[in-house]
Amino acid sequence: MPKPIKPSVVLLYLLFFPIISQAGPHQAAIASAHPLATAAGFEILEQGGNAFDAAVAVSATLAVVEPSSSGLGGGGFWLLKRAKDGKEIIIDGREKAPLAAHADMYLDKQGKPVPNLSLDGPLSAGIPGLPAALAHLANQYGRLPLSKSLDPAIRHASLGFEVGDHYLRAATSREHILQSYPASADIFLEHNATPKPGFRLVQRDLAATLQRLAIAGHAGFYRGETATKLVEAVRKAGGIWTLADLQQYKIIERQPIVSEYHGIRMVSAPPPSSGGIVLAEMLNILSAYDLQDSDSVTRKHLIIEAERRAYRDRDAYLGDPDFVDIPTERLLSPDYAAGLRVAIRTDRATPSETLNDTPSINPQGDHTTHLSIIDKQGNQVAATLSINQSMGSGFVAEGTGVLLNDEMDDFAISPGKPNAYGLVGGNANRIEPGKRMLSSMTPTFLQTKDRIGILGTPGGSRIISMVLLGVLEFAEGHEPESWVSIGRFHHQYLPDVVEYEPDALSVEDRHGLEKLGHTLKPTPRPYGNMQAILWDKKAGLLKAASDPRSEGAAWVRH
Ligand code: GLY
Repeated sequence: MPKPIKPSVVLLYLLFFPIISQAGPHQAAIASAHPLATAAGFEILEQGGNAFDAAVAVSATLAVVEPSSSGLGGGGFWLLKRAKDGKEIIIDGREKAPLAAHADMYLDKQGKPVPNLSLDGPLSAGIPGLPAALAHLANQYGRLPLSKSLDPAIRHASLGFEVGDHYLRAATSREHILQSYPASADIFLEHNATPKPGFRLVQRDLAATLQRLAIAGHAGFYRGETATKLVEAVRKAGGIWTLADLQQYKIIERQPIVSEYHGIRMVSAPPPSSGGIVLAEMLNILSAYDLQDSDSVTRKHLIIEAERRAYRDRDAYLGDPDFVDIPTERLLSPDYAAGLRVAIRTDRATPSETLNDTPSINPQGDHTTHLSIIDKQGNQVAATLSINQSMGSGFVAEGTGVLLNDEMDDFAISPGKPNAYGLVGGNANRIEPGKRMLSSMTPTFLQTKDRIGILGTPGGSRIISMVLLGVLEFAEGHEPESWVSIGRFHHQYLPDVVEYEPDALSVEDRHGLEKLGHTLKPTPRPYGNMQAILWDKKAGLLKAASDPRSEGAAWVRH
């Protein structure tokens, strides 16, 4: 039995305290999923750029050197904190449904989803937001011109780089779809097959596309040569994009979700990402338990039960806030969490089917990417970027080098039917022209009087539960190495199973959880790729850590 503690009193001042930090860490830290991207960020800092310029460089370089996870053909969420005035903002560069999209576009005449239509090829692609976000970041928050910050990415695209295991795995898993499109196969395959280790990936068309973005900013992608080539290629291959879709694309600056857990101020992504709300709801539920002093099985059981309830609400209530009303205040309220907590039993799992309402999410996914940055002045960035599944739609628009996303699958394409993540979803997330599909991306800042945390990870619907485990590590005073490496387990309401990394649960944990009624399912391999930074102000220490499961690089430098 966990020792119940008084529900945490929400100290209002915590939500607003130290908005303005007095001084930076006098060092910089960058953690990203690829050493060339981390190096690109430092190159730009050394040229006088700030964390926001570095975020442009790291994002654009990841688009080149980790093409399976993000890219100019995708989108993402950039959480920023500006040191000089404490401004915190999210750049919503999420993809949008094309104007010709409609709710039934992936269904056959019987109303059944056509297999893979929302996952492969140009019809699965939303209108990209990443190029617009980079231009906005540079114009509004950077110190350097976009052309300077895009330099490293252009260099790596035109000169090429040697691919690693992450790339080879992704190309293998998507070989078939890449083979379907000559422009994709020419770039990403070798003699029409997955390349051998040591393959040098050169992307000259992508370098030229980046160059047009560097010269003309937003218009260099969404108008003119790039836009024309994108639309021509998409339509020729059966897609529905028009020039108007590209011309109308705009990023949106949104207020982040701010919440509190045991004295930690948390700042995270708002809808159209479900990340911030689901994370806050889980931690609100957990705030009344003494997790640190609970035995291992009880601790995990309570985390799973909190996940079950918050992920159910994700499915039922969340979507693009420009299209649906979201009961944000209620979902974030401690009273609402207290109500949910009442039905949590410490001696038994709650079958998901006994909770009201249904729609659900499913796990998986180690595509998508994340970067965390802090500069010497204390400017902060946490950004999670995606093209959805590995290698997105598998479709490169000829002459652009741009690999398009398959983010349309993040919509509820058919009520009651799971998507690639097992998401069933409801009306709030149905397809509508110009709407943003619901995401799970959870770029997050953590703040106490003495410590700043910056973290996030890829991983589809598992993103939020991974960040939850990272936050709990931070809350219990552990180092970033432990946030990124802790064994992971996940429950998302439906299917009613606890997924866990092979080494995440001990034999005792497994027996204990099964005895409580949980169904356990090991994942085939470890998942996630967290990138994290800790600034311990009291100790004057800056630390960065990159997930040991992949090939990222986390560096701290003067
Ligand atoms: N495509 C994964 C997500 O946005 O959650």
